[in-house]
Amino acid sequence: MAEKIIRTIGVLTSGGDAPGMNAAIRAVVRTALGKGLKVRGIRRGYSGLLNEEIIDLSARDVSDTIQRGGTILQTARCEEMRTVEGQQKAAAICKKYGIDGLVVIGGDGSFKGAQKLSDYGVNTIGLPGTIDLDIACTEYTIGFDTAVNTAMEAIDKVRDTSTSHERCSIIEVMGRDAGYLALWCGIANGAERILLPEEHDYDEAKIVEDIKENRKRGKKHYIIINAEGIGDSMNMAKRIEEETGMETRATVLGHMQRGGSPTAKDRVYASIMGALAVELLMQGKTNRVVGYRHGEYIDFDIDEALAMQKGIPQFQYDIARQLAL
Ligand code: ADP
Ligand code: F6P
Repeated sequence: MAEKIIRTIGVLTSGGDAPGMNAAIRAVVRTALGKGLKVRGIRRGYSGLLNEEIIDLSARDVSDTIQRGGTILQTARCEEMRTVEGQQKAAAICKKYGIDGLVVIGGDGSFKGAQKLSDYGVNTIGLPGTIDLDIACTEYTIGFDTAVNTAMEAIDKVRDTSTSHERCSIIEVMGRDAGYLALWCGIANGAERILLPEEHDYDEAKIVEDIKENRKRGKKHYIIINAEGIGDSMNMAKRIEEETGMETRATVLGHMQRGGSPTAKDRVYASIMGALAVELLMQGKTNRVVGYRHGEYIDFDIDEALAMQKGIPQFQYDIARQLAL
């Protein structure tokens, strides 16, 4: 099949927002304009595409955005896009607006939508945008670095009061079903215990025993980082307090982890990935996702990327346990 010549590129953000998405949008817009292409921004993810919320984007429209959290295009989750009818309609709308290449910034779910649009003739490139780091083909996702730093700073503050009151503190971090945010916070905040969905055996008796031992060793607090995939932090706090006699409080950090100005890493990686997405589209590529592995930016077939799996490195988890002595 002859390679399609791309004249107009669309860009959308989908799924949970992540700091750095604006840097990626800005890079897509300015790279494409610099190469003489037209750029259209699609508001509110696939939902906005299906509602034809499509605007022209100029270089000035993305001025003053690189430092801003969230996404200037807004984001959404869209059930209709999961249906064949929705996917065909979305592809037809892309054609109506002359969008022959589309950059989708989001997670695995968003890439499935991009995969379908590619099947229906719209060239698509996915950029990994999620604070969860749960995309198997890449060691980096846009937003994780900012989110982990935001959570780390919040946990430092909880730690101060936990130490002063000599309490056990359970702090729940986001991450959907993945424990990467929890693992990183656990190591960065020097937590006594990290509960990861990938590892947790739900045997609280072991935690209770460890808290008692910890007190004997003279420690003034006991910080537990609990991953969202396990949840139940409030009830867990009650049970632990009853079993140990140590005052226990739970804090769920919630959506504050998703907001805020992106770190330098998120701004730079997202900018490079945004520019690469345009290059790939101009080379006639479709159904690809950009990732970062072993120090290099690379792209994968979306079908292959979605079939990949990654897990928490056991040695990192073991090191975290060892450092909690
Ligand atoms: P993420 O992209 O962060 O994984 P979601 O899983 O919520 O977030 O997916 C975002 C959106 O991608 C969904 O609301 C839906 O519109 C689209 N999507 C998810 N799964 C599919 C699918 N199997 N086919 C087509 N579109 C999908
Ligand atoms: O995927 C990002 C994320 O923040 C997850 O960590 C969390 O499970 C989910 O989104 C929360 O989504 P919502 O915005 O619907 O509360």
